[in-house]
Amino acid sequence: MSGDDADVELEARLEEQAEFEPPESFVEQANVTDASVYDEFEENWPECWEGAADLLDWDSDYDQVLDDSNPPFFEWFTNGSLNASANCLDRHLDERGDEAAIEWVGEPTDEADRTYTYAELHREVNEFAAGLREMGVGEGDIVTLYMPMIPELPIAMLACARIGAPHSVVFAGFSADALATRMNAADSEYLVTCDGYYRRGDPLDHLDKANEGLSGVEHEVSDVVVVDRLGDDGFGHDLTDTQRDYDDVVAANEGAEVEPVERDAEDMLFLMYTSGTTGEPKGVKHTTGGYLSWAAWTSQAVLDIKPEDTYFCSADIGWITGHSYIVYGPLALGTTTMMYEGTPDYPERDRLWEIIEEYEATQLYTAPTAIRSFMKWGSEFPDQHDLSSLRLLGTVGEPINPRAWKWYYKHIGNEECPIVDTWWQTETGGMMITTLPGVKKMKPGSAGPPLPGLDVEIVDNAGDQIEPGRAGYLTVQKPWPGMLRTLYKNDERYIDEYWAEYSDTDSDDPDDWVYFPEDGAKIDDDGYITVLGRVDDVINVSGHRLGTMEIESAIVGVEGVAEAAVVGGDHDIKGEAVYAYVITEDGYEGDDDLRARIVEGIEDAIGPIARPEQVVFTPELPKTRSGKIMRRLLEDVANDEELGDTSTLRNPEIVSEIRDQARN
Ligand code: WT7
Repeated sequence: MSGDDADVELEARLEEQAEFEPPESFVEQANVTDASVYDEFEENWPECWEGAADLLDWDSDYDQVLDDSNPPFFEWFTNGSLNASANCLDRHLDERGDEAAIEWVGEPTDEADRTYTYAELHREVNEFAAGLREMGVGEGDIVTLYMPMIPELPIAMLACARIGAPHSVVFAGFSADALATRMNAADSEYLVTCDGYYRRGDPLDHLDKANEGLSGVEHEVSDVVVVDRLGDDGFGHDLTDTQRDYDDVVAANEGAEVEPVERDAEDMLFLMYTSGTTGEPKGVKHTTGGYLSWAAWTSQAVLDIKPEDTYFCSADIGWITGHSYIVYGPLALGTTTMMYEGTPDYPERDRLWEIIEEYEATQLYTAPTAIRSFMKWGSEFPDQHDLSSLRLLGTVGEPINPRAWKWYYKHIGNEECPIVDTWWQTETGGMMITTLPGVKKMKPGSAGPPLPGLDVEIVDNAGDQIEPGRAGYLTVQKPWPGMLRTLYKNDERYIDEYWAEYSDTDSDDPDDWVYFPEDGAKIDDDGYITVLGRVDDVINVSGHRLGTMEIESAIVGVEGVAEAAVVGGDHDIKGEAVYAYVITEDGYEGDDDLRARIVEGIEDAIGPIARPEQVVFTPELPKTRSGKIMRRLLEDVANDEELGDTSTLRNPEIVSEIRDQARN
């Protein structure tokens, strides 16, 4: 039977099915199987989170689970102390020292994979931590890590954690400008990067980009460490006076042991910059005790991770998913976590399935955009491989449509693996809304109920809870341990962005404070939540969050552009794609040359992920009488849909003009 026929058959059988019970074989062995956990957590809130903290080793016990005396600056596990690197490494050495902590697969197929046992990882983390100290990195200094999917990235993260230096990882696909912006915002004086990495068979020059970024940093950067990833394939950069080779740093500290620094539960573990409504990225601050408990607990309860697993998350560590669910959660639990450097279609479209077969991976956690690509490529690629080691599947980053869900369930999970559709954000630190896979039935298209202990409500504009079935706004009514603590050096923006909308901001009563994630959602009669997408000016391209303002300011920076508006339009594979509407300056043509320069401007400011699907030149943008751009109408144009109400526009005729232009 061809892939197409199989799909037809699958659809016929599964199309009607709206609910799926967790497979028996999974339930039998699941970490969490008792449905009473929901009631127990509710009755015992916030002490219910002691169990999450108990998954960690503490140097000194906390005296309060939650200090909510100064909302929205909630503190968790107060006065407790611990070290994240000790929790991810040292405590596993006795029992799991010789077991694999990281299985790394490089993109080139002729290159040897690398295994780091817990003992080996511990050793190299200690050596690099000693090296960082030698450079003068002290507790509280922010170290920027601008690296792709190579083992030295988690090693550097854990080395920073060991000495109490928060890391700020910048996704390697981001541009030089984006690196500079983030280093400036964090006042970061240290950078760890690499010479390059492989993409679809070709070496890519990363150090060139890093160097360009460094030239945009406004303060002095005292030290830069460069990992030699490419060896003979490298680009022959000479290191400067402030740059050192990673291997030299590690070799100079051979056998060094660095006592893990005792960190207060509320001390910052890391910063992660993410996109918001304005052009300035937001520095999300996560802490040592609350974040790590959350990452560990959700990894155990939702991903069902056990020490003997080989767990595979195909995200990039440069995003929060990789922080929580490649590095911190899995390693805190002492399991084997996989890392793959390349893309799923190199050298062939079966690369992920080949890796899963070879390593007998037990879980796969990926994004809907990837699943939609797999589906488009066809089931013959997974069919070539034995995927029976898989026990659980997960998705994250954007809504998954039921068709893609069912394809994943059938062709990857063989109808034997539960799927967890996990809603969460950079800011939440870890998963928030999803089924407990051994307890709850699944409904394709709906993430599921909130995790135990979480109080989520769908509300209207006034903040009042609305009835099931109607679309409203997602809110979280009570704090949770993994939550962000603030935006770095910007408490005011923290309140404005996440709390002001539905809270009584003058109140000291924690019950008056409501967290608003800026997503729309609806709930059904079973309490299952379908997340509908962002309601702010943030778009979600292939599960990556981009601010339309950031893209617009990049476009406006291009010579010949007077004004620009960017919206997200629907896209089969990416979920959403970038559509740009541009007014040229007098004397400039809206031609292919300008279009190319706009694309380049966006790539320089942000990176290739923000590359627009379409750039449409227009003499005007649709504006209300008060001068506000009506993005909703531009979204209709992007989606080639019937145009919405234009009556409030001061220039109603322009929208159909733009549409004609776009169709050309
Ligand atoms: C935004 C957060 C969470 C790590 C990756 C993205 C969207 C995320 C889902 C899901 C529907 C989802 C939301 C959210 N989102 N997961 N399962 N179903 N939407 O983290 O970059 O901080 O983006 O991604 O819109 O607000 P992020």
